[in-house]
Amino acid sequence: MRILVTGGAGFIGSAYVRRALAPRGAAQPPRITVLDALTYSGSEANLAPVAGHPGYTFVHGDICDPDVVDQVMAGQDAVVHFAAESHVDRSIDGAGPFVRTNVLGTQVLLDAAVRHRVGRFVHVSTDEVYGSIAEGSWTEDAPLAPNSPYSASKAGSDLLALACHRTHGLDVVVTRCTNNYGPYQFPEKVIPLFVTHLIEGRTVPLYGDGRHRRDWLHVLDHCRGIDLVLHGGRAGEVYHIGGGTELSNRELTGLLLEACGAGWDRVEHVADRKGHDLRYALDDSKIREELGYAPEVSFTEGLAATVEWYRTHRAWWQPLKEGGRPR
Ligand SMILES: NC(=O)c1ccc[n+]([C@@H]2O[C@H](COP(=O)([O-])OP(=O)(O)OC[C@H]3O[C@@H](n4cnc5c(N)ncnc54)[C@H](O)[C@@H]3O)[C@@H](O)[C@H]2O)c1
Repeated sequence: MRILVTGGAGFIGSAYVRRALAPRGAAQPPRITVLDALTYSGSEANLAPVAGHPGYTFVHGDICDPDVVDQVMAGQDAVVHFAAESHVDRSIDGAGPFVRTNVLGTQVLLDAAVRHRVGRFVHVSTDEVYGSIAEGSWTEDAPLAPNSPYSASKAGSDLLALACHRTHGLDVVVTRCTNNYGPYQFPEKVIPLFVTHLIEGRTVPLYGDGRHRRDWLHVLDHCRGIDLVLHGGRAGEVYHIGGGTELSNRELTGLLLEACGAGWDRVEHVADRKGHDLRYALDDSKIREELGYAPEVSFTEGLAATVEWYRTHRAWWQPLKEGGRPR
């Protein structure tokens, strides 16, 4: 199978590619082409473990560039679309790049996928498209009510992808997942930001009173869920992928402090994010019942391994915090 992976040099995309090309008995690995613009959050260092793999090709290019996209789309059996501007705080500072990459870039990819009659298009999205939910959890048919420019641009791309299925018959599936964590996550997101700050002996900035609640999903469980949807999901459908561990940011902070041997004196309470959604929660019974999905990484073990990875990979994250590239 030939798969085009957009954004494959980022946090989740690179985990997907490393996993897909890892030796797995007699099973034939897919042939993977990564298309990535290498923005601040993408790096070929994240793909170093697969760099010499015969089934791997890297193309440095922008998903908004129709010529590049047309070239890489030819001959693909499937697309797994991760490429995006992904950080809410950056979208509050400026929405332009988010609309460009997340909405326009997705449309360029969809158009090319239709033209080249690609067999399946997996559009990777987020629980944030639903807005905030005080209690209970969203099912896949809940209305979209995004609150940040990031989530609004992702919602726009989800609707374009689903409309492309209805209008042009492209075999589209949309996945929406909860907050991912794991190795190689850019140190602007809360877990790597806090862990690396604590390793450096700095304080960590906790938004508001820390009561915001998120579900946590290990990146490898997310990748497993995406593969189940890629191979078994029904065309035109949305599938939720959850991790099963809901925590307030305050509870998460407590766990991170403990893992790093630090106390609450290292926490600085900072002004809350504008429009900060209080709680996200997904009902993922559809993927569990239809495709047999269940998260396999326990949060306790996954978090300990993630903290250990940041402890032992300072050469990866230190340059990123200084505006450079991983070593
Ligand atoms: N991280 C999470 O917790 C989370 C949760 C839900 C959904 N998602 C979604 O998963 C996907 C991947 O997220 P991530 O955390 O790995 O993000 P990331 O920021 O780590 O990686 C994004 C990648 O996309 C690339 N990219 C950005 N603009 C591009 C462009 N115009 N053309 C080509 N490549 C471009 C970047 O270089 C980078 O490699 C995104 O679509 C995001 O919305 C992430």
